[in-house]
Amino acid sequence: MFIFNVYFYFIFLMSVILTDSPAGFHSVSFVYSVHLSPVQNNVITGVYPASPSSWLFVVIAILATMYTRSDPSMGLIAKIQEHLPVSDSLSVQCRTVVSAVLFSTLLWFSLIFTMRLCLKQLLSYHGWMFEQHGKVSNTTKIWAAMVRIFSGRQPLLYSYQGSLPNLPVPAVKDTVKRYLESARLLMSDAEYERMTTLAKEFESSLGNRLQWYLKLKAMWASNYVSDWWEEYVYLRGRGPLMVNSNYYGMDFLYVTPTPIQAARAGNTLHACLLYRRKLNREEIKPSRVPVLNVPLCAAQCERIFNTTRIPGEETDSLIHWQDSEYVAVFHRGRYFRLWLYHAGRMLSPREIEHQIQHILDDPSPPVPGEAKLAALTAGDRIPWAQARKEFFSSGVNKRSLDCIEKAAFFVALDDDEQGMMGDDPAGNLDRYAKSLLHGKCYDRWFDKSFTVVLYKNGKNGLNAEHSWADAPIMAHVWEYVMTTDCFQLGYTEEGHCKGDVASSLPPPTRLTWDIPAECQERIERSLAVAQTLADDVDFHVLPIQDFGKGAIKKCKISPDAFIQIALQLAYYRNRGSFTLTYEASMTRLFREGRTETVRSCTSESCTFVRALEGGESKEVCRHLFRTAAEKHQHLYRMAMTGGGIDRHLFCLYIVSKYLGEESPFLKEVLSETWRLSTSQTPLQQVELFDFVNHPDYTTCGGGFGPVADDGYGVSYIIIGENMINLHISCKHSCPQTDSHKFGADIKKALMDLLELMSPEKPDPSRAEQNHLKNSKKDL
Ligand SMILES: *[C@@H]1O[C@H](CO)[C@@H](O)[C@H](O)[C@H]1NC(C)=O
Ligand SMILES: *[C@@H]1O[C@H](CO)[C@@H](O)[C@H](O)[C@H]1NC(C)=O
Repeated sequence: MFIFNVYFYFIFLMSVILTDSPAGFHSVSFVYSVHLSPVQNNVITGVYPASPSSWLFVVIAILATMYTRSDPSMGLIAKIQEHLPVSDSLSVQCRTVVSAVLFSTLLWFSLIFTMRLCLKQLLSYHGWMFEQHGKVSNTTKIWAAMVRIFSGRQPLLYSYQGSLPNLPVPAVKDTVKRYLESARLLMSDAEYERMTTLAKEFESSLGNRLQWYLKLKAMWASNYVSDWWEEYVYLRGRGPLMVNSNYYGMDFLYVTPTPIQAARAGNTLHACLLYRRKLNREEIKPSRVPVLNVPLCAAQCERIFNTTRIPGEETDSLIHWQDSEYVAVFHRGRYFRLWLYHAGRMLSPREIEHQIQHILDDPSPPVPGEAKLAALTAGDRIPWAQARKEFFSSGVNKRSLDCIEKAAFFVALDDDEQGMMGDDPAGNLDRYAKSLLHGKCYDRWFDKSFTVVLYKNGKNGLNAEHSWADAPIMAHVWEYVMTTDCFQLGYTEEGHCKGDVASSLPPPTRLTWDIPAECQERIERSLAVAQTLADDVDFHVLPIQDFGKGAIKKCKISPDAFIQIALQLAYYRNRGSFTLTYEASMTRLFREGRTETVRSCTSESCTFVRALEGGESKEVCRHLFRTAAEKHQHLYRMAMTGGGIDRHLFCLYIVSKYLGEESPFLKEVLSETWRLSTSQTPLQQVELFDFVNHPDYTTCGGGFGPVADDGYGVSYIIIGENMINLHISCKHSCPQTDSHKFGADIKKALMDLLELMSPEKPDPSRAEQNHLKNSKKDL
């Protein structure tokens, strides 16, 4: 009987810890106070999902129970009392209290531990993801309720980190099977047969051994992929970051809130600082999967600011600084340091505008070598690593380079105007994208975690380095910055920032350089490499209005699957064949997860495209389209829940390299080219935008450069119900690719699919039947 009582008692305590609202306890709780120090944040995150104040509650509850002469600890308190070291100096009563407090604390920690374990177990379940849209099973409903209970309330950014499940290692057999399935229609029969033999051989011999090592790694590492992914895919890359790896984000499409460059800089930079402050206080809400509120990993947020990539001869490294109170600014070939704090407070938007104007008005010319210095970060990595060691490891050059690398982020003030404007809005939009992607090759610091670009006409944008995080992280920052700039901070009627300027502000300082002729030569060489690369980029941004999620949802098909199949159709029409297709998805349901590949060219999508192009009947095509869409969604879900193909094979390959083993199978798989590389940028903080009242304030999303020399890169963003923006890239040097032609093909494919699936336009025969039915009803 008593056991049960104790049991219910603990359940009761647990519920109190979770709900965190026993009357009167708010006064001692510091969860709700406004400014939290990092230590406080660590404590709160450390004891999540409980709140620190619940500890007091547990102590009082235990003491109160003891007061009623029952012993909730079943003798444990007495045991603790026996072993207390300071037994003689304290009275018996005092000792009892001390041991009761100790017991309560232990109990409290074990309750927290149990809750976390429960949450981790709960979050390892992914069955909810595979359910049909709108049909939630009872299991999932119960599961979602449990997750809500164990998730606690008011989480800080990193609160869930300890409860996220680890990414599981799939079985080699499953991965190989999935791989062969994905490769079937992309290979001839003979090729496929050869590959199957290689795969079976791998599966039965070397694969097992490699898998064993991988499982060993998965036991101690928090994520068996991410550290290798960061190192081998990003940091060891020796080619230019520009175009190949860095990506960009754009401003609002239709509006520029102020035409004054310095003012736009004022609000933009200030909004970045506001975000950073929220980040440091962990006040940013952890990202979640919409609807079910499943938390996503936030580890990538740690290196948004104060971060740079340092070139090395063999491998680059990422360095992050705990503090950085200024930004480095580039304007007309000169570098400045701009302090963002003055007298212990953050500069107001108006003050930043004033400082930026100071830089814009500064007539001093760049010193020799200074103007094109940043080209070093745009070219190959090894020459940059060597130049950095030779010319930037001492004296003024070291000091100035340090200043750039340790800045919160990099700011580029451009002398030209950009945006969708003028007589050729479409062409200008393409130029705007190119400008953000590579600029003049020497006016962005490509190593910095991100560069904010401000144009002469007040447009802005950003260029981000890719190794420290994936695009959704930067997109989250940028959504906040854009909307805070326009809707929160705002501008005066003349287009200036609001607020006053403290008269004692010291002006921004020029960085000094002493760049010898030999180093200037290196800069020129890097610039030549970068310039060739940049000139080759064929870029097209295509906003598609009056078509979007709304119309797609009426067809009862997932918007992402719809667009991906449209891409397949467009590619087939464009090139007359199918190709291996990469779609990025995320694995942030797991701790420190990054991305996984969805191989979105499937047998099902090929069959559908062939049927449509072969003139099959609408009924057949519709059926095949649905099958292909379902297949795509299934693959996407598998990728998100750890059942992908490519990261597992990648890791097996790395293990084989470590062991010095050759695997012809892995080698071939890893060297396949992705001629179609795609990625959706989801809008994450829809609540910040207001598409109904401010339909013009739509973001344009962002894009990336071509991945294969003879392929396409396509990034797309679905905005509201009625808009999709495409960012298409390829290379001029490839005669078979043309970004504008492909854009037109995608648009046509989207429209064709919509017409195929559109429920409003029944075919004539059916219309006649309906007519008959209706006339009967009328009778
Ligand atoms: C789910 O629960 C509802 C009642 O809450 C019940 O009517 C329904 O039959 C259950 N469905 C299944 C599949 O068990
Ligand atoms: C970056 O630098 C700022 C300013 O010194 C500091 O407050 C902040 O904690 C740093 N950010 C991170 C994430 O370390």
